[in-house]
Amino acid sequence: MSNPFRIAIAGLGTVGGGVVKALAARGDELSRRAGRTLALTAVSARDKNKARGFDLPGWTDDPLSLARGDADLVVELIGGDEGIARALVETALANGKHVVTANKALLARHGRALADLAESKGVTLKFEAAAAGGIPIVKALREGLIAHGVDAVKGILNGTCNYILTEMESSGRSFAEVLKEAQAKGYAEADPTLDVGGGDTAHKLALLASVAFGTAPNFDAISVEGIEHITADDIAFASEFGFRIKLLGVARRVGDAIDQKVHPAMVKVRTPLANVSGAANGVMVDAGEAGSFFFSGRGAGEAPTASAVIADIVEAASGAVSPVFGRPAASLLPLKPADGKAAISPWYLRFEVLDVPGVLAAIAGNLADAGVSIESMIQRVRAPGAPVAIVMITHETSQACVERALKAIGPSDKVRARPCMIPMEAA
Ligand SMILES: NC(=O)c1ccc[n+]([C@@H]2O[C@H](COP(=O)([O-])OP(=O)(O)OC[C@H]3O[C@@H](n4cnc5c(N)ncnc54)[C@H](OP(=O)(O)O)[C@@H]3O)[C@@H](O)[C@H]2O)c1
Repeated sequence: MSNPFRIAIAGLGTVGGGVVKALAARGDELSRRAGRTLALTAVSARDKNKARGFDLPGWTDDPLSLARGDADLVVELIGGDEGIARALVETALANGKHVVTANKALLARHGRALADLAESKGVTLKFEAAAAGGIPIVKALREGLIAHGVDAVKGILNGTCNYILTEMESSGRSFAEVLKEAQAKGYAEADPTLDVGGGDTAHKLALLASVAFGTAPNFDAISVEGIEHITADDIAFASEFGFRIKLLGVARRVGDAIDQKVHPAMVKVRTPLANVSGAANGVMVDAGEAGSFFFSGRGAGEAPTASAVIADIVEAASGAVSPVFGRPAASLLPLKPADGKAAISPWYLRFEVLDVPGVLAAIAGNLADAGVSIESMIQRVRAPGAPVAIVMITHETSQACVERALKAIGPSDKVRARPCMIPMEAA
């Protein structure tokens, strides 16, 4: 095969290292698939002397120089929505180089502008690894499920959160205990805020919504709630009602608008999403007349993420220059945010209250005033003097109504902790 396809990689950590190793191990077969020899010609990271277990062809201390060299494709695997990663991607595109990245934060924030730049230069910008790691969900939404349109995408997109929730369920331990253990085992970052706070899921959701609905990524329109406040009690109560708690990223068409939110949700056991356990990811796509499709697999880690990056590299090498978000950037629709608080579902509510007469009646009164009606209730008395847990499942009602009720209930001196509200998914 003549005319090698020159690849430069910036970032040689978990993902970059995996890509270099996969190219070394399967380069011949991958080149045959691409129809061109895939040649790794230059690499860059922070520290040349770090032990990595692979060669460093064309090493440079300056990642930006890769964007100005003779590579056909620059692979950005450094991370971060600003700084060197953004400069590298912008410079590479501006210099007419194809770009592959796993950087969800960068694309969620600057995806529209980068898509404009890539298209103006006639090059491709690919990001399969940025959402759900090894699961080929970007390609499925961008190309495979376009015939009838997509009504909703619902996913477990953060392995750290799913690992924590799964461990809390199986061991009965608290969020803090399980998080600490996950950090010790390397499953959670030293600063877990982006994962457990829902921000990482939101980055990925912004990208999935864009390819699903043909809209420009609109990260700022996503309402984000993490899992930090979920207690072992919530998980045990969920189980009693036949549900599991999962952190979901949900993007749903509502008329001509899109509702995007990240939040813990009660998911019925024996449904596909409820059975995504440990660090795995899962995505449910409702594709209109075509039906529902469920994808699951490893959403992070060296091999799964490298697998997605390699697929993008081979596609770029084979000459496919498809629009970044599935349609020409100029025709991407602005994402019109729906009123998320109007969304209707049954709700799980938990109150921690003093065991004194009249508390239950007061809560029921506030709920009724806000138009929230109760379907079932459990009251759990604990040690004498300790707060009582009251758990209610509501009939279908809007988030706005539930929030109105909780705003009235929360300040009572009989209520001992911030009430918890979690929507219950229909399926
Ligand atoms: N890890 C996953 O499972 C996963 C999954 C999906 C997407 N991603 C995304 O993939 C990207 C890379 O993640 P990762 O987990 O591979 O990160 P990582 O293990 O922390 O590796 C980052 C790499 O970037 C290099 N680097 C950092 N700052 C640099 C700078 N200023 N100049 C030059 N090089 C710099 C580091 O160099 P040194 O090695 O010399 O320190 C390292 O090689 C991120 O955008 C992440 O969100 C990761």
